[in-house]
Amino acid sequence: MAPIYSRIVATGSALPERVLTNADLEKFVDTSDEWIRSRTGIRQRHIAADGETTGDLSTLAAQRALDAAGIKASEIDLIVLGTTTPDIIFPSTACLVQHRLGANGCAAFDVNAACSGFVYALGVADKFIKTGSAKKALVIGAETLTRMIDWNERETCVLFGDGAGAVVLEGSSEPGIYATCLHADGGHKELLYNPVGVSAGFTDEPNHGVRIRMAGREVFKVAVKTLDALVEETLSAGGMDAAQLDWLIPHQANLRIIEATAKRLNMSMEQVIVTVDQHANTSAGSVPLALDHAVRSGKVKRGQNLLLEAFGGGFTWASALLRY
Ligand code: UT7
Repeated sequence: MAPIYSRIVATGSALPERVLTNADLEKFVDTSDEWIRSRTGIRQRHIAADGETTGDLSTLAAQRALDAAGIKASEIDLIVLGTTTPDIIFPSTACLVQHRLGANGCAAFDVNAACSGFVYALGVADKFIKTGSAKKALVIGAETLTRMIDWNERETCVLFGDGAGAVVLEGSSEPGIYATCLHADGGHKELLYNPVGVSAGFTDEPNHGVRIRMAGREVFKVAVKTLDALVEETLSAGGMDAAQLDWLIPHQANLRIIEATAKRLNMSMEQVIVTVDQHANTSAGSVPLALDHAVRSGKVKRGQNLLLEAFGGGFTWASALLRY
């Protein structure tokens, strides 16, 4: 019989070694530490080294999660990887990671839901486990977003960083993931996107025109409103009151958006995991990086109720309500 729940057994993460502080940015962009901190909460970000890829960071994060779970890669029967910065167009980064871990043979695929990529991947893997199609899954969120940055564009270059996080999911008769909610609305594409792909978009601009375009203020407004509705929907889907939540683990794009969601839930910032100051916005990497930080620092403990949420390009938005 299929298990009733999927459960997070362990977490892992990986960050590039190089750190770029706001003070470093001040030296080559018309910006200031004060502006970046007060508008976003960001103090620093990690930047992938030349040749260091999303797959490299994913493999490290996944191996750390497997080690923490005490599970061999060969026991994994599903890998779902959320990213919008895959190493190459194909094979998927999930396949590259699978081979490097030694989990050959299991299903492996990428999910592109931009910043919501990890939570989307978690929602997909949860369903595989609940239906009995997989017993042990690796769910990864990873990006090397700084590869798509124009370092002359102060509106975007101060916001992003690189990194990866991973979880091992397993079937269980105990909770577990209570609910996941996944949504998208392609109608707002122009507010947050990268127009260059394989089938369309190459230009004669530097880097073929590959760069993130974002109407920050508009995205901000939609994000706050959408996340307000999302957290209500998720609590209702999981049959829980906000008062029963121990931790909010939000997408780390902007401290002001995080504070607005916490306020909506009547949660104090003491109950919110914040890593945006250290990592900046790592897109699909942000929620699993924050989760791993929360687990390894001893903040999140077994048996506690967590609400994970994310919002990003698409627009996409997604959440998971779970007992850790
Ligand atoms: O992860 C996916 C989802 N993404 C998000 O959730 C991001 C949502 N948006 C945001 O986080 C914020 O809108 C930003 C952090 C991107 C921008 O903050 P803001 O408070 O909305 O600022 P703004 O875009 O309205 O710009 C205010 C001013 C402008 O100058 P004027 O027109 O008031 O003279 C900008 O030119 O700040 C200026 N500015 C900067 N100044 C110094 C923009 N970027 C910078 C900068 N340094 N890096």
